[in-house]
Amino acid sequence: VDLTPYNSLAIAASARYFARITHREQVGATLAWAAEKNLPVLIVGGGSNLVFRADIEGLVVHMALAGRHWRDISIEGATLVLGAGENWHGAVLYAARSGYRGIENLALIPGTCGGAPVQNIGAYGVELADTLVCVTALDRSSGKSVTLSAEACNFAYRDSLFKQQPERYLILDVHLRLSRNRPFQLGYGELAAYFGDTPVSKLNAEDMAEAVMAVRRRKLPDPQRLPNAGSFFKNPVVCQRVFDQLQSRFSDLVAYPLPHGQGMKLAAGWLIEQCGWKGYRNQWVGVHNSQALVLINHGGGSGTQLLALAQEIRESVQARFDVELEQEPLTQPAIN
Ligand code: EPU
Repeated sequence: VDLTPYNSLAIAASARYFARITHREQVGATLAWAAEKNLPVLIVGGGSNLVFRADIEGLVVHMALAGRHWRDISIEGATLVLGAGENWHGAVLYAARSGYRGIENLALIPGTCGGAPVQNIGAYGVELADTLVCVTALDRSSGKSVTLSAEACNFAYRDSLFKQQPERYLILDVHLRLSRNRPFQLGYGELAAYFGDTPVSKLNAEDMAEAVMAVRRRKLPDPQRLPNAGSFFKNPVVCQRVFDQLQSRFSDLVAYPLPHGQGMKLAAGWLIEQCGWKGYRNQWVGVHNSQALVLINHGGGSGTQLLALAQEIRESVQARFDVELEQEPLTQPAIN
């Protein structure tokens, strides 16, 4: 099976075997079949955080479990339960239209609800971890269904248990606690600016989602038109001492303080732009011209070409700033 439609970078890798899961009952039998044939299994949702560097010589499982329902409804809020295969942006709009707040800043993030906890998706001051109550998953090591609390998910910036133990869990449902009245997160300057003088009390969750969509569209390319995997690197965190040294050499360095003196998060897009990469392209792959943190497949680019470009970027940032960039999307097959 050609995996081009199953990865937002539109890399033309192929899968030896392919299965789509639309019902829970299929999960056990599908995994048992792969185990019997001794095949590696790769679970794919929206494929928006994946770089295929070669063909997949195993079973690719496309998670397409649908379903959304509400539970634990109170005056203050409700829990939204989402099947792993549900489209994330669709879920955000559904919650906002239903009058619930908490995930509107995460509008337009590509991918599925099951993929969302894996890298703890985040944008405009909000992370999935802020609303996630628990995840139900199949523990592939025991074959049993488990409920993992937010704490057990071990969330950090673009990180989770599911990244730390990549083969272990198959996410089935995601439970989010949403609120009817919690204040909106308007800390990101462009978001606040979007509303001008309109008082925050006049805004609803749909207005917020609209604003986020507009702000995203200004900078981030639509994967349907320019195939990409969002930010290709994490924003690196450095300690205050390293930050001070860097700032003394580069006075316009862009960085944000982390809470509790945990250091400074540097804007990787700025570092990459300073190295002259913004808008760079060769015949196949390139760097987006309005956000240097986003790598693009301009047509027919392979994973190897994309990873080679990423490596050159990483080396130039290292040479100039002595800062190491960490890749955000997962390479498949994984490099051990
Ligand atoms: N900047 C540049 N040049 C660039 C890009 C950025 O100078 O080419 C500087 C600008 O000063 C800008 C600052 O960096 O103000 C921050 O850029 P931006 O607001 O675009 O955010 P980001 O730090 O590059 C992060 C997330 C995005 C998320 C935005 C908004 C990561 C790795 N990326 O990007 O998430 O949408 O903040 O909250 O943390 C993703 O993970 O795929 C993703 C798109």
